[in-house]
Amino acid sequence: MNNKKIIVAIDGFSSSGKSTMARELAKRVGYVYVDSGAMYRAVTLYALRHGMVNADHAVNRKELVAALPSIHVSFQPAGADGVQHTLLNGEDVEKVIRDMQVSALVSPVAEIPEVRERLVDLQKKFGEHKGIVMDGRDIGTTVFPNAELKIFVCASPEERARRRLKEMQEKGENVSYDEVYNNVVERDRIDTTREVSPLRKAADAIELDNGDMTREQQMDRLLSHFDEALKKNCP
Ligand code: DC
Repeated sequence: MNNKKIIVAIDGFSSSGKSTMARELAKRVGYVYVDSGAMYRAVTLYALRHGMVNADHAVNRKELVAALPSIHVSFQPAGADGVQHTLLNGEDVEKVIRDMQVSALVSPVAEIPEVRERLVDLQKKFGEHKGIVMDGRDIGTTVFPNAELKIFVCASPEERARRRLKEMQEKGENVSYDEVYNNVVERDRIDTTREVSPLRKAADAIELDNGDMTREQQMDRLLSHFDEALKKNCP
């Protein structure tokens, strides 16, 4: 039995299914799973709740940066529902951070360098003992540039919008396909063009297009990459 552990970085576009893949991989190999997008969402929720968003949906950067020391994001280990819950200053916000209102504002919040700096520091701490699967946009490039396994997940915007719509409708949210599609495209644009840590594939990342793959096929592929990385790095 090999007790040595690696870091797995999974990056990709919004709604590419990377969180589901990352969570499932972590469960299968007994690693900790960290959803870094949830951290940006929690900070966005804080901004919304504290009147830092004006009527034109612009975030007051100055106020949010000043409030950063009072924003504490953490995770509660998976409970009976098998889902790890995101906590904002101790409050379970797992459900509310997935709302359309937060989704529409999270990319501009994630563009703020001070917000990134604070969350990246925290993310690096989560990986100190390895044995972690983290998903996001800059995990293989900025947070863990030395991760032993890097995966870059992609699928077309149409496919991703369909998945997101289904997810939201299952939660009882009343949104249209066009609304979701526009949000996916706009987030892609902001995520790939922002100045700090834009979304891009790390040179040593393995690309995984999961457009026509079943969940089982994705997991088989991931597990074989994981085994290979483990053998190579922890012989
Ligand atoms: O993965 P997600 O859709 O929950 O991420 C929410 C937003 O957070 C997304 O628009 C981009 C941003 N994000 C980021 O900038 N860097 C990360 N490591 C993770 C997410």
